[in-house]
Amino acid sequence: MKSIKVGLLGIGTVGAGTFNVLKRNQEEIARRAGRAIEIVMVADLNEERARQLVGEQCEVVSDGNLVVNHPDVDIVIELIGGYGVAKDLVLKAIANGKHVVTANKALLATHGDEIFKAAQAKGVMVAYEAAVAGGIPIIKALREGLTANRIEWIAGIINGTTNFILSEMRDKGSDFDTVLKEAQRLGYAEADPTFDIEGVDAAHKATLMSAIAFGIPVQFEKAHIEGITKLEAVDIRYAEQLGYRIKLLGIAKRTEQGIELRVHPTLIPSKRLIANVEGAMNAVVVQGDAVGPTLYYGKGAGSEPTASAVIADLVDIARLADAQPEHRVPHLAFQPHSMSDLPILPIAEVTTSYYLRLHVADKLGVLANVTSILAESTISVDAMMQKEPALGETQTDIIILTHQTQEKNVEAAIKKIEALPTVLGKVTKLRLEHLS
Ligand code: HSE
Repeated sequence: MKSIKVGLLGIGTVGAGTFNVLKRNQEEIARRAGRAIEIVMVADLNEERARQLVGEQCEVVSDGNLVVNHPDVDIVIELIGGYGVAKDLVLKAIANGKHVVTANKALLATHGDEIFKAAQAKGVMVAYEAAVAGGIPIIKALREGLTANRIEWIAGIINGTTNFILSEMRDKGSDFDTVLKEAQRLGYAEADPTFDIEGVDAAHKATLMSAIAFGIPVQFEKAHIEGITKLEAVDIRYAEQLGYRIKLLGIAKRTEQGIELRVHPTLIPSKRLIANVEGAMNAVVVQGDAVGPTLYYGKGAGSEPTASAVIADLVDIARLADAQPEHRVPHLAFQPHSMSDLPILPIAEVTTSYYLRLHVADKLGVLANVTSILAESTISVDAMMQKEPALGETQTDIIILTHQTQEKNVEAAIKKIEALPTVLGKVTKLRLEHLS
């Protein structure tokens, strides 16, 4: 069978990994794909560096249009990132009848519906295993391996940078700013880490997972997003004393009222396997009604781990390129005419448990006042911890863990608690998931 020909847009870290792994494992990959996979053209703005990386083996250009218009190219790999040029070239490649492989979560989470619709109309595949959790085959698991299940929820550590920072904060007791600087020095965090630390990157990935888990359109704009920039070392410490770790989780959950789609720092019991995922590693738990909980763990970024996912998509396409489009796996796992219109719930309507930290004057009745506000708000207390004031101090912290309740209940109760004269300053609120 003749080889399948690939054009590569962008040969940075992941592009170079893809090139190297394809070359190193070419025989093994061809045995699986049933044909050779051959990169015939690479486009990169830094043509000289690109040429150094690929040698004489394929043509190197600086204009991506030459790749998407190349008559011999069957598959375009987009590794440029962002929404501008990348979107333009992906849509052009589709219009030219090329299949697309992309690692671009930002592009798909914001313009996925348009891109998948265009691909559907043209009868080509857009594959994106590398867009979520790098080397972990979570898209494959959700779209195919778990296809018998009604997926109930997904919770994932899907951003390595923030997991590295949180692990360091817990290990060393350092605050966020100190650890971020260290992470940048070590190359774990980008020079501009905004998308990572503000939870945007995790929300892109959670959005994609929610779409394929529940058969809903990609709706990044409706995701609730909180990063880790405001997280304080003291809360990591108190959480630990209560038997919890704080992780930045991407959560997609089906409820009767709608879908919860949220990214925020979350307390999870330390005894859960996912609570012990440390450093830059990623992990995703998927709860299916038939299979129960399943856990996927691995590297969520990096040259060859991400290349591993890109090449898996290339092999899938090589196998299915000649199949009738309707016999392929649908882009979002569900047939396009069977999508659900379940709404994404606003954060006020989300139901979960909470961690509340109150700084209080150590006076008679303060606890009674707080608990009576909680009781009036039908918020049930699960655990409580009051620290003894330091020697000579008259103020202290009270930590309260609640049972499940709606966010708007907690917000209303916090307003009342903050109005108490014995409660000093703002109440710190974090969400807590038992993941059971
Ligand atoms: N910046 C991401 C992370 C990897 O830190 O996990 C690419 O999405």
